Amino acid sequence: MIALMTATAAGLSPVFPRGTRVNERGRLEIAGCDAVELVAEFGSPVYVVAEDDLRSRARAFVRALADRHRDSEVVFASKAFPCTAVYRALAEEGLGCDVASGGELYLALRAGVDPGRIYLHGNAKSEAELQEAIAAGVGYIVLDSFDDLERCVKVSRGGSAQKVLLRVTPDVAGATHHAISTGQADSKFGFTVQEAAAAASRLSSESRLELVGLHCHIGSQLLELDPFVAAIEAISGLGRFQVYNLGGGLGAAYGGAASPPAVEDYLDALVDAAHRWLGDEIRLVLEPGRALVANSTVTLYTVQTVKRNVSTWVAVDGGMSDNLRPMLYGAVYEAVVADRPLAPASERCHLAGKHCESGDVIVKDVVLADPVAGDVIATPVTGAYGYALANNYNSVPRAPVVFCREGAARLVVRRETYEDLAARDVVDVTEA
Ligand code: LLP
Repeated sequence: MIALMTATAAGLSPVFPRGTRVNERGRLEIAGCDAVELVAEFGSPVYVVAEDDLRSRARAFVRALADRHRDSEVVFASKAFPCTAVYRALAEEGLGCDVASGGELYLALRAGVDPGRIYLHGNAKSEAELQEAIAAGVGYIVLDSFDDLERCVKVSRGGSAQKVLLRVTPDVAGATHHAISTGQADSKFGFTVQEAAAAASRLSSESRLELVGLHCHIGSQLLELDPFVAAIEAISGLGRFQVYNLGGGLGAAYGGAASPPAVEDYLDALVDAAHRWLGDEIRLVLEPGRALVANSTVTLYTVQTVKRNVSTWVAVDGGMSDNLRPMLYGAVYEAVVADRPLAPASERCHLAGKHCESGDVIVKDVVLADPVAGDVIATPVTGAYGYALANNYNSVPRAPVVFCREGAARLVVRRETYEDLAARDVVDVTEA
């Protein structure tokens, strides 16, 4: 048994959630739950969250930042995985919350997140969204443009002073997919450094909005630390503020060969730069999404067909409706047959989705162990922007979310039904 587990530890990709192993039946086991049994119970596709992995990463992030800077806060960028169970788990682990729309605000409040720890973002917030945020008593509104500022002034009339941050675009870009790079000068997000100075002076004559600090987020899935440091230096010329929210962006490992910076190294670099350029007496806020949730989750599918022509096409019951990232960003995932993850595998396959587009391929060129219809396939690292970007293309009901912990599985989001697909339809279908 020990020998088996050692072999298992060596054989499984390190990107699976902590606590994933191959069990005595030779199958993938996530947080004590057999993957094949999870599919038998909950169907597929299904997002399986290893709850201890999720919570321990969040706890470690909070602790590591607090160890390096006294007055600190970690804020969950909830766009990465906006479901009630995740909002709750991360609030319980002591994190604040970033919302980027009225919908995310609604979900966060409904989940019981303390409004005072919510940061409202958005480059095109509506008056209604600003009103909702102010009515809810959110801690901070992050202003993104002069129009946003004036709209916020208008909406805040009559209320008590609302704390605001200015989002600054530092003209520093990291190496990432262009669709998720935000720090460059030519960006739809934030004020330029020069504009931020003008916005700060405009706010100095505005008693209803209290400018307490700056926000900066240069992009997502960043694997190098230098751009974060350069961004901090770039915003330091704007003077001294009480609060600095330095955004998210730390990349995750999607495959065993990837080596993103460790959270500790990332925090060493950011906190050192913050102390150097912004001072020691600041409130330092970080806003990770992906680094908290990506590796916590595995998507399970069932193989429907295997077709061999020029390539081998292994088609499963999900695809671009539950994971858009391969199509949007060319993201590369790993996959294994959950029924036998350690079986020798030699056949190069394309793991294809069920949707009516040739581009609906979840993983190109993945080596799978003799896949046949009925096998369960596991793709790790789907916790960030998987559920978040899910859609109903081909009217495929969206997948459920199951939390697993110490061998117990609990459904936290049910699968969509066909009735859900028609729920917003107001045409009377009873008339012939
Ligand atoms: N703060 C702000 C203001 C953001 O816009 C974002 C992400 C974050 C924090 C969190 O960034 P993270 O730590 O997750 O990198 N859908 C894309 C990612 C879009 C990121 C949007 N903003 C993807 O699937 O790669």
